[in-house]
Amino acid sequence: MTTQQTSTAADSGAASGTETLTVTDNRTGATYELPITDGTIRATELRQIRVDEDDFGLMTYDPAFMNTASCRSAVTFLDGERGILRYRGVPIEQLSERSSFVEVAWLLLTGDLPTAAELEAFTAELTAASFVDESVRRIMQAFNHDAHPMGMLQSAVAALGTLYPESKDVADPEVRRRQIVRIIGMMPTLGAWAYRHNAGQPLVQPRLDLDYSANFLTMMFQVGDGPYEPDPRVVRALDVLLILHGDHEQNCSTSTVRAVGSGQADPYVAIASGIGALYGPLHGGANEAVLRMLDRIDDKADIAHFMEGVKGGEERLMGFGHRVYKNYDPRASIIKKACEDVFEVTGVNPKLEIALELERIALEDEYFVKRRLYPNVDFYSGLIYEALGIPEEMFTVMFAIGRAPGWLAQWNEMLDDKEQKIARPRQVYTGAGERDYLDVGAR
Ligand code: CMC
Repeated sequence: MTTQQTSTAADSGAASGTETLTVTDNRTGATYELPITDGTIRATELRQIRVDEDDFGLMTYDPAFMNTASCRSAVTFLDGERGILRYRGVPIEQLSERSSFVEVAWLLLTGDLPTAAELEAFTAELTAASFVDESVRRIMQAFNHDAHPMGMLQSAVAALGTLYPESKDVADPEVRRRQIVRIIGMMPTLGAWAYRHNAGQPLVQPRLDLDYSANFLTMMFQVGDGPYEPDPRVVRALDVLLILHGDHEQNCSTSTVRAVGSGQADPYVAIASGIGALYGPLHGGANEAVLRMLDRIDDKADIAHFMEGVKGGEERLMGFGHRVYKNYDPRASIIKKACEDVFEVTGVNPKLEIALELERIALEDEYFVKRRLYPNVDFYSGLIYEALGIPEEMFTVMFAIGRAPGWLAQWNEMLDDKEQKIARPRQVYTGAGERDYLDVGAR
């Protein structure tokens, strides 16, 4: 296993029960033999390494989880060193070329591609589930018209838990399945409602005759009962974007969903928490930040000055860099190609030229080369969204719609995993030692 790879070693063929690590504690001279499984040692094995009876035992210190596997997962394989991403073993390139988002959702959730009958039944279930209870409309309408759609989406998803109290029964796989279908079904409707509320337009329910992505576009852009038919190339491009966002193993928002779910909260609040984690500009919010950055640069002549600021540490080149990918993010290559299809329909987004120039400079510049910073999924996705008429504030909502099946597959897997317990990291306490309370007059 290479150092940057993050998925389990099962794929690399490493690991057998006989591999061990010998550790000598130089404080005591004692030697320990720790089993290695799938390229990992168990952190709890270190607890036996103690200087005396009263010692709590050795812990690992790993801020931001730079080198800690928090679970075993069979959902997504990612090799950041070689730029590989597979859902349930199937390469992302094949899925984005030949599959649909609904099919990918099934794959992520169940582990296998659906048969034709399963796909038909799942599609029908999602469509039926896409109608949102009218009480949620009032929640949306309570927001200011300039409220950020991610805030609205997060609140609406959390509120759904109150409508489906059965969802608290997370031990029942059938109950879980029903909520999973509901959440994936409703995400586009809620996303479109957030958009329409911002735009001061009536919030519309989905149509029964349209597929997932076409329904979303129609809920976003149809005015009254006027004509609206999205171009099939645009629908396909949106489907591909959703596929590319489907899952990404133990990223910030997925880890959040797992952590909240580990307390046995219902899936609506777990997913709402994931939406909260995704919101930030270093995670899903980067796609919005990329467009703001391109807006700000505006002219190719300003690029050199902007890059100096980035290299001077004043700001980041948004859409570049990744905790795991130290090579081209395979999703970015696919999106770059999808840009061409969309721009054929919509005309070229003028910001593409600036983005391409930024990429060209960054890939040659020592600062980026040395740190192995490449475009990530967010660098080009915003250009497509903008070309589709989706405003910047909605970009991270698009990411959330795509990521919902991954969050839910991981949540479900976590609940079935007998090794998992409530997530509860340890700390290294750095505060004051014991000291007496002082009355206010004596401070
Ligand atoms: N622009 C300029 N410098 C950067 C960038 C960037 N985008 N990303 C990392 N660096 C530098 C960073 O300053 C550091 O330099 P030094 O060693 O001199 O201190 C070095 O590269 C390592 O960076 P890091 O912050 O330690 O890396 P990380 O793994 O903690 O952060 C990241 C990963 C994605 C948060 C970061 O690369 C970043 O902020 N990128 C911009 C935001 C972005 O595009 N986020 C979307 C990620 S992909 C979608 C998703 O999964 O959410």
